[in-house]
Amino acid sequence: MRRILVTGGAGFIGSNYVRLLLDDPTPERVVVLDKLTYAGNPANLVGPGTDPRFRFVHADIADEAAVRQVLIDEGIDGIVNFAAETHVDRSVLEPAAFITTNVNGVYVLLEAARALNIPRFVHVSTDEVYGAVLIGQSSERDPLAPRSPYAAAKASGDLMVLAYHVTYGMNVGVTRGANTIGPYQYPEKATPLFITNAIDNQPLPVYGDGRALRDYLYVEDHCRAIQLVCERGGPGEVYNVGCDHEVDTLTLADAILGHLDRPKSLIRMVEDRPGHDRRYSVTAEKLRSLGWSPRYDFAETIKQTVAWYSGNEAWWRPIRSGEFAEFYHRLYGNRLGLTQASAQSA
Ligand code: NAD
Ligand code: TYD
Repeated sequence: MRRILVTGGAGFIGSNYVRLLLDDPTPERVVVLDKLTYAGNPANLVGPGTDPRFRFVHADIADEAAVRQVLIDEGIDGIVNFAAETHVDRSVLEPAAFITTNVNGVYVLLEAARALNIPRFVHVSTDEVYGAVLIGQSSERDPLAPRSPYAAAKASGDLMVLAYHVTYGMNVGVTRGANTIGPYQYPEKATPLFITNAIDNQPLPVYGDGRALRDYLYVEDHCRAIQLVCERGGPGEVYNVGCDHEVDTLTLADAILGHLDRPKSLIRMVEDRPGHDRRYSVTAEKLRSLGWSPRYDFAETIKQTVAWYSGNEAWWRPIRSGEFAEFYHRLYGNRLGLTQASAQSA
């Protein structure tokens, strides 16, 4: 893959992946195709934008004509699909966009790639497709049992990609990554939400009993895993990406407060998320056998992430004052007893 299309590359993981690609002299062209939803942000691509090999196209993956045009114009020989609606809480409030992008969008992208015989197609999926795993770890052979509209839509896209390998012989790969954190993550997800709230001395809303477990993966480690699958993954193969950093929400909140020297009294136990998955855990043995291992342990992962948000207020403050304020009030207004005005200042 020398001429790469990165769909959803203006989002969190995609923009970090673009940076990783451009750090290497090998790629001749890196094209981001992104719809720029609330989560897509041109500011995430300011650095890559100065590289002569970089191009940006504002388009929807569900627009087949636009996708085909880019594939032809740029002579693309590999697609890495990050584009998705990604927040579980938003999928609970309004599932429709999740079906449009994560199911139909993936199908349209596959059709365009098939028509033009694109040599490699890697689809970025999630460990949430396995559903809640109370004991043990999910392997790539386990059945999918998604439980939120987000996870069900991702599972549909993931299975469609694999079906295109079986049915049409397309050279696809699928990654199923764990909860990822690091620079440029939209502050709706737990980690950046807690960090930015803590910086502003606002409460950290912890769902239920705070004991739901997630495996927190540093974004750079996740991007290196995706790149390895692009280069060395077998056709039609799935690779889990996890690092065994199993941490519950209260521990995550404590770690963030500790780094920022904020009191534990900022933690607010609030009404649980409907259908909240208790635990995700994947084994990444298959990926490790390709030569991948995480470089960041949990302590370093959280330290780097807190340091980035502390040093980059100019990136997240404009986000929190826009669309985010309305969403925040809708999701947390009752839970935190907020007035409209206090949500806007949060
Ligand atoms: P994000 O929400 O930060 O970014 C998503 C990007 O996709 C945005 O730039 C958005 O504008 C774009 N997009 C959305 N709909 C689009 C469409 N129809 N056409 C073109 N672009 C569109 O997401 P993220 O956290 O960077 O996640 C990237 C991928 O990784 C997703 O597929 C997600 O399911 C997967 N994933 C995320 C995590 C995580 O913890 N964040 C973990 C595992 C897997
Ligand atoms: P999140 O970052 O939304 O990722 P996901 O639900 O996709 O794993 O949430 C991570 C964990 O934190 C999850 O167990 C839900 C919990 N959580 C809270 O307790 N409060 C919050 O405000 C959010 C957004 C999440």
